Amino acid sequence: MIIAANLKTNHNRTKTAAYLDTIEEYIKEHKSKDRAVVFPSMSSLCPSRERITIGAQNAYPVANGSFTGEIGTDHLDELAIRTLLIGHSERRHILNEDIGLIKRKFDFFAELGYEIFFCVGEPLEIKETGFESVLTYINRQLDGIDLTYPKLVLAYEPVWAIGTGKTATKEDIIAVHSAIKELSDKPLLYGGSVKVENAAEILAIDGVDGVLVGTTSWQADKYNALLASAQTIKE
Ligand code: PGA
Repeated sequence: MIIAANLKTNHNRTKTAAYLDTIEEYIKEHKSKDRAVVFPSMSSLCPSRERITIGAQNAYPVANGSFTGEIGTDHLDELAIRTLLIGHSERRHILNEDIGLIKRKFDFFAELGYEIFFCVGEPLEIKETGFESVLTYINRQLDGIDLTYPKLVLAYEPVWAIGTGKTATKEDIIAVHSAIKELSDKPLLYGGSVKVENAAEILAIDGVDGVLVGTTSWQADKYNALLASAQTIKE
């Protein structure tokens, strides 16, 4: 199981370090075997810990250059960061990253062998038009992405479930995950209002290989509770 925390624009450097300390302590104490991945904010990036992989929420597909506000591989290399989130719904829908840029990022970082957490998911207006539209929408997001890339981790995150407290139903998750699983055998996470209370049920679903969590993960004790849920499922 992969338990991934997307800290978004939360926790400065000091708070992130304390957060990681708490999680690492928990992992060691409870001998958690699940994989912990944390995506801190850009200025809080740091090298991975012994038991926690650190990933970047974003990077531009360059080593360096004139791209104001962005970071490239020079900056990731300095911290030995080899994991990257691409296609998150907030980057697609708030920061207006289009499918072309997302694909360019994927190709660039895949060529360099980065582990890529690639997010897909439909907005509410698509969901409301039915399951076939959802699949068509997701297929378009995956179009041109190498779904056999060895270091690919997929995440299904319905936009209407992100940060809204509204989790997809078990049936929704089963339906979409099995459709994505037909396209790729890579690990597939669910994301969108995963909470301590529903994590165990979601993690137990066939075709769910972990969770990508925002809001709930921002508190270290809640993140640790997610690890505890994962541990109960698989043992
Ligand atoms: P959420 O965010 O858990 O707050 O819904 C999930 C995500 O954005 O990855």
